Amino acid sequence: MVQQDFSEMINGVWRIKWWKFRYVLVAALLVNVFLINHFFFEQSLSDLNPFGSASTDENVVSSPPDSSPSSSSKDTPSKEPPSNGIVVAPPKSSSSFNLNDYDFNGEYVGWPLERVCKETKWTDGLAYVCDNNSGGIGNIRNFILTCIRYAIDAGATGIVMPRIQRRSEEDLANIFTTGFQPFSYFFDEAHFRKAMGDNCPQITIFDKYEAIPGGSRIRKIEDFYPKDLGDLDGCDGRGFRGKFDKWLSTTNRTPSDAAPVTIRFKWATFFEWPIYRDGPEFAATFGDILRINPDIEKIAAGVLREMSKFTGNEPQANKLNTPYLGVHLRTESDALGFWPDFNVQSEGYLKEAEGRQLKHAYLACGNATDGHRFAEKAKEKMGLQVTSKLDLLQGDELKTLTDLSWDQQALVDFLVLTKSTHFTGCSFSSFTMNIAFKRHLMTGGINSRPWKSPGDDFTTLVGRFDSWYGDWMFMYECMWP
Ligand SMILES: *[C@@H]1O[C@H](CO)[C@@H](O)[C@H](O)[C@H]1NC(C)=O
Ligand SMILES: *[C@@H]1O[C@H](CO)[C@@H](O)[C@H](O)[C@H]1NC(C)=O
Repeated sequence: MVQQDFSEMINGVWRIKWWKFRYVLVAALLVNVFLINHFFFEQSLSDLNPFGSASTDENVVSSPPDSSPSSSSKDTPSKEPPSNGIVVAPPKSSSSFNLNDYDFNGEYVGWPLERVCKETKWTDGLAYVCDNNSGGIGNIRNFILTCIRYAIDAGATGIVMPRIQRRSEEDLANIFTTGFQPFSYFFDEAHFRKAMGDNCPQITIFDKYEAIPGGSRIRKIEDFYPKDLGDLDGCDGRGFRGKFDKWLSTTNRTPSDAAPVTIRFKWATFFEWPIYRDGPEFAATFGDILRINPDIEKIAAGVLREMSKFTGNEPQANKLNTPYLGVHLRTESDALGFWPDFNVQSEGYLKEAEGRQLKHAYLACGNATDGHRFAEKAKEKMGLQVTSKLDLLQGDELKTLTDLSWDQQALVDFLVLTKSTHFTGCSFSSFTMNIAFKRHLMTGGINSRPWKSPGDDFTTLVGRFDSWYGDWMFMYECMWP
């Protein structure tokens, strides 16, 4: 059944008239250029970059410390001043996301969300239920964010606290075990409530579905899929609000406090909201409402300290000085047949290690056999020392890790990889791409423009090939960092 849903989804992507969509993209780009320029003139940029920038913040590693001067830094566009003569000079901030400390988040910036919420016309009695999400962190983040973004667009005055479906540990492709886990299974709940409450107070967060007022008067809409409302033009939600309101009113379901309506999303409603439609500031910050559970961050910080030792550097309390290549080898049994195989991926990753003269690598791979294969190949071919979370941790720390589920353990990898000197992974993986996008924020902070394949100063993805259509599930356009 999962297979069937999946092929349905892929077919759905096929059916989209993507050639038409190209022009929409060009238009979106032009709007972006306008927005960015507009932004330059309207605002004092120096106040607005909370992430720091590779170009000016010396605390940010923009190229590996021990790499030759000919490495990536000279061909990075972000290092050139913009041609209009205005030099982007963000402040140095210890709370910026960077590669030199144990902070996985940086400062939360909520005003772009506040602005979007202030611009919205709200509908009493309408609640969105964003709970049937499953799979790994890349997909789950996007499911929840897409659902909440649609909820805001629809003017929903309520959402139900998102939950997460537990994956089967025996069969990794079975992501519907109906074992619903709370939000905190992956995420920082206190942060989510605060970020939403402070910046979008028009939305009430209900702890569970039953907490929505209205009881039997609630009209439940299940398996809702925004694109079913008509041609929303591929990966583009323009016109959604109008179509949505009209659909409710023509079916006599206009919500009100007396006659509430709940909308529950069909599984796999993700990678379909073009994030730059909301401008770069919103695109760069919205995803930060979802942060990883602090207990899991603590384990990742422990892994980083051991990683430091592994590279021969004594760990320091607040400073991370650990040159390593982050590798995500995606060959688990649920990988799809047309993704790059072990050989293509491993060759690509080793090329990065070589080019950047890195001697150590942190490997994330849910497939132990292939993990060992990669480590051996790396050592044999170029003396690259490869390790992983299970090799690095010991004693109680190791037990805390192994007590977690497979997907939760992957969150530790997710965090450790975000801090690598250079990161490389398989471009079909939403897990990989999410890390790439997060790291890309360091190129321009809140003004970052879209990440471009195959990579930037911080990341190189492997495995683009001919049958890549419309770009795999529109991840490029529709993934919030
Ligand atoms: C979640 O989505 C899957 C796939 O569409 C579906 O089979 C399942 O019934 C849904 N679960 C719930 C609780 O709605
Ligand atoms: C590991 O990867 C190989 C292919 O590279 C695959 O045949 C095997 O099923 C995978 N095993 C697991 C446990 O994912």
